Amino acid sequence: MNIVDHIRETRDVTRDELESILTTNDKESIEYLRRAARAEADAIYGNKIFMRGLVELSSYCKNDCLYCGLRRSNKEAVRYRLTEEEIYECCETGHSLGFRTFVLQGGEDAWFNDERMCRIVGTIRERYPDCAITLSLGERSRESYQALYDAGANRYLLRHETADSEHYARLHPAELSWQHRMDCLQALKEIGYQVGCGFMVGSPYQTIDTLYRDLQFIRSFQPQMVGIGPFVATHNTPFEGFPNGKVEATLRLLALIRLLHPHVLLPATTALGTLHPKGRELGIQFGANVIMPNLSPRAHRKDYAIYDNKICTGEEAAECRACTEQRIRKIGFESTVDRGDYKE
Ligand code: 5AD
Ligand code: FES
Repeated sequence: MNIVDHIRETRDVTRDELESILTTNDKESIEYLRRAARAEADAIYGNKIFMRGLVELSSYCKNDCLYCGLRRSNKEAVRYRLTEEEIYECCETGHSLGFRTFVLQGGEDAWFNDERMCRIVGTIRERYPDCAITLSLGERSRESYQALYDAGANRYLLRHETADSEHYARLHPAELSWQHRMDCLQALKEIGYQVGCGFMVGSPYQTIDTLYRDLQFIRSFQPQMVGIGPFVATHNTPFEGFPNGKVEATLRLLALIRLLHPHVLLPATTALGTLHPKGRELGIQFGANVIMPNLSPRAHRKDYAIYDNKICTGEEAAECRACTEQRIRKIGFESTVDRGDYKE
């Protein structure tokens, strides 16, 4: 049996199969992988691509992740923080553009403590009862996650970054722990969030073995969402001299994740679109089914600079929505602003 059929049938991959998929130059077998992944997504979600409105709350961050342009040691990074009013305005714009999922994302900024953040989530919940609220605010205490859930949040994105604790230690300063990241993911799941994990492709020191562990982690954790994108070497970070992750490897991994965990909500990420002009379209063709147009105020867009050359920093929310919609339509898919909950 060929590798792809074996993966699809067992919903598992061996380390050697992974290596073979990531290293082959055989165009036909990659096309076979792509079609198999797309068929899985089509069978569950049809040709629908879910759009989520992204609001980038704050470029302040107390962490010092070695890969990230917003790390606290980067004194060149421009810091901003949206006011509560600005956040509500973004949601109102998003809602009038049809979005029924808001993703509130930010650096780990102590300003957004539980009191403020619960008030924000509660207000959005009250104003838009039919919308899903997704948070992506990094590591917080279990009590904080619970309070935000009780205030009305439904989903939480927290990439695990790598399932290998030694690799994790090479990507992060000593004060950040892999175990704590794992504990956060577990707590989020137990509380009842739809949870997203994920990792960068081609991050420094990543190997076939660490990627194998990432895939096994996804198999065991069974997240509702998985965010992956290529690593983008970023100026003023310790990793500025490392090579970028590969678009091709990211696409193959997207397809693999779709085959291993067919119901997953899988975004075609902005990082993928940053390293290739058709990156997000390719992501969809390899099994992704979510896209996250930017709703952040234009004045601050360019300052949410996690990595270099990020796309969509000059466009208004409406332009970004129209652009993604058109791109999706052009490749024969249908964009939808439905809540797009995970299908069991
Ligand atoms: N390149 C690509 N992705 C990055 N992230 C952070 N820095 C970079 C970078 N330089 C990703 C991390 C993080 C998410 C918010 O963005 O995986 O979890
Ligand atoms: Fe944002 Fe194209 S998706 S401008």
